[in-house]
Amino acid sequence: MIDFEFRNPTKIVFGRGKEAQVGAEVAAVAKKILLHYGGGSIKDTGLFDRVAESLRVSGVEWIELGGVRPNPRLSLVREGVRLCKDNGLELVLAVGGGSVIDSAKAIAMGAVIDGDVWDFYMGRSEPSSALPVGTVLTIPAAGSESSTGTVITNEEGQLKRAVNSDLIYPRFSILDPELAFTLPPFQVACGAADILAHLMERYFSMVRHVDFTDRLLEATMKTVIQKAPLLLANPMDYEAWAEFMWAGTIAHNNLLNTGRIGDWASHDIEHEISGIYDVAHGAGLAVVFPAWMKHCLGQDPSRFAQWAGRVWNVDLDFWNAEATGREGIARLEAFYRSIGLGTRLADLGVGPDRLDEMASKCTNGDRRKIGNFVELDRAAVRAILELAR
Ligand code: NZQ
Ligand code: ZN
Repeated sequence: MIDFEFRNPTKIVFGRGKEAQVGAEVAAVAKKILLHYGGGSIKDTGLFDRVAESLRVSGVEWIELGGVRPNPRLSLVREGVRLCKDNGLELVLAVGGGSVIDSAKAIAMGAVIDGDVWDFYMGRSEPSSALPVGTVLTIPAAGSESSTGTVITNEEGQLKRAVNSDLIYPRFSILDPELAFTLPPFQVACGAADILAHLMERYFSMVRHVDFTDRLLEATMKTVIQKAPLLLANPMDYEAWAEFMWAGTIAHNNLLNTGRIGDWASHDIEHEISGIYDVAHGAGLAVVFPAWMKHCLGQDPSRFAQWAGRVWNVDLDFWNAEATGREGIARLEAFYRSIGLGTRLADLGVGPDRLDEMASKCTNGDRRKIGNFVELDRAAVRAILELAR
């Protein structure tokens, strides 16, 4: 196990109807805010009205900015930054999923600088402060509700890039499992794939003596694998949603990262796919992750065998670790298909014509390597994309 520092400052308010508390949580920090949301699901479900009422009761004024699309765009972030600056807004409240929260975090960083927020995403500078962010989560998936991350797409160049900073941990996140009842089955499946991916990125580590976090990761994976089919069969199963939602937060709040180094190459590759083809992040991961595994199996077959045995109940055979791992990968693919996701690029409508371009963008023209479990250069990323066809 390696040394670490761990602190996750996001206050989690969890349970039925807890969005009624949003006004009080906001009022403790700010009086005038940006209320940020997506394409309209929160208006259809009545959540918007409940949030607005809670803000009103607590004496919080707000300016609205809706219209965040999945794979959130830089242009809307810039509009939000302008609204915050012009109106002296003090907090960004995200009501929605990972896309809305990521857009809110970007606005929060941009609102306190004179320069361009995109510079942070290109690694040209680092944020030194940000407005506070609060969230009301409507989909368990990205884990952005208590993560350091924000992922934004710049329409110019179809570049999807991330920033990680402790400054953008949300101050509070309200998690009401009932808010997920209205999710379409495809989004439920995408959420499951993303949560699993956050766990597998951390699981496939070259750091030794991490049995404790291995076990936590395995338990969380098993929870997701067990609950996703229940949610698809009964979208109003509160108890299953509650466990799934909490698992989604824990999967990405860095607790399960402690003492180990995650990989993250599958995420980097997926971001190239969704940056160009605008596919749902979870759907992209269901295609990339099995291909990454097939490419990397030989690096440490016994780790794959352990995962296959403990998570997928494959008969553990360390003498045939590679075959055991391969069976685990087959079961992962079967799971994705059972919840309605494809496992090949063609299922996403991605043809072979831009694979070279994606491999090149992902590795910055072969000037950087991605991943930690296995370091991948441009040729290796291209090989993984080939395996995903
Ligand atoms: O926009 P609305 O109308 O709200 O509809 C959304 C959207 O179409 C809908 N939806 C959300 N909650 C709903 C609902 N529909 C009905 N009822 C509800 N309760 O679902 C669709 C998808 O929403 P989105 O926010 O895009 O989903 P998700 O949470 O999966 O976020 C995906 C984004 O997060 C990024 C991804 O790259 C992607 O851009 N990620 C962010 C991370 C982070 N900040 O830490 C880490 C992740 O690895 C990920 O990269
Ligand atoms: Zn993800």
